[in-house]
Amino acid sequence: MIERVKKHFNEVENFTSSDIKKIEEFRLSYAGKKGILNDLFAAFKDVPSKQKKTFGKELNKLKQLVNKKVKDLKSKSKTFSSKIKINDTSRTAFPIRTGNRHPISIVKNKIIEIFSQIGFSISEGPEIEDDWHNFSALNLPLHHPARDMQDTFFIQTDPDVLLRTHTSSVQVRHMEKNQPPIRTISPGRVYRNEAISSRAHCIFHQVEGLYIAKDVSFADLKQTLKYFTEALFGNSEIRLRPSYFPFTEPSAEVDIYWGLETETDYRITKGTGWLEIMGCGMVDPNVLKNCEINSDEYSGFAFGMGIERIAMLLYQVSDIRLFFENDVRFLNQFKPTI
Ligand code: PHE
Repeated sequence: MIERVKKHFNEVENFTSSDIKKIEEFRLSYAGKKGILNDLFAAFKDVPSKQKKTFGKELNKLKQLVNKKVKDLKSKSKTFSSKIKINDTSRTAFPIRTGNRHPISIVKNKIIEIFSQIGFSISEGPEIEDDWHNFSALNLPLHHPARDMQDTFFIQTDPDVLLRTHTSSVQVRHMEKNQPPIRTISPGRVYRNEAISSRAHCIFHQVEGLYIAKDVSFADLKQTLKYFTEALFGNSEIRLRPSYFPFTEPSAEVDIYWGLETETDYRITKGTGWLEIMGCGMVDPNVLKNCEINSDEYSGFAFGMGIERIAMLLYQVSDIRLFFENDVRFLNQFKPTI
């Protein structure tokens, strides 16, 4: 009997294959229900009692050897077969690193999510605009001094073709095509001919919002902004300071209370604890008229914010240029958890 077990030892040791089917056949022939191991275990009772101990030991060793052999061969055959399956030589080598969302996209998506929960749709428009949509329709006629508030890039010296300086242009397009009630936000990239520094860039992103219906009041605007800041910053305290925009009357700038706990808080809030995050106001009736909306029947509010500014606050980034350099060491730090 011992001889029989020894013979199987040799057989197991010498077996080799990279064919997964053959390995499985081998496993079944030994470890299957009707396999050799079960046969040998069944024969155990006929072994003379003196030999039982050695026979049992050898049999267990054989069983372990079979298990190890099958495991080894299977793992080898797996790496082998996955290697030969790859025949795309241009494919990136292992390990493949997955990318991250850009922090600007993460913040943009979050803002969109917050406003879509209260019924705002998303509207988009072209980055190359004409004078009407970027300026004139927004109550900024030609030569209006307020045009200087937004230094403009013109294309090919044609004053009618320009890179949009804000996404308010998208709202004009939306109003031209839709009648109230209107509830829409327009996220997008905008351009201004400004000196590049740690706080300003010639390209940045905005989300602007527009709400037009019957009897919309300033209280509705304030309540909407309060809901938004609470959802994004977890902080409900806001204040509105009187301001000026040609397309809204009255206009305001929105500050959130940031706090004065750390030295950074002092620095970024200039010692006041308050931080400006956006501009807003009641849509000027002239703008509604320009878009063929009856300003006696309808009123509305609008607001606009820079995504970079919000991202800088949320992630404590001190230089706006980092968002455009696309250094992966910077980008890899952001996970969409806010
Ligand atoms: N369009 C303004 C800007 O780019 C922001 C704004 C939008 C202000 C809507 C008031 C109302 O600065």
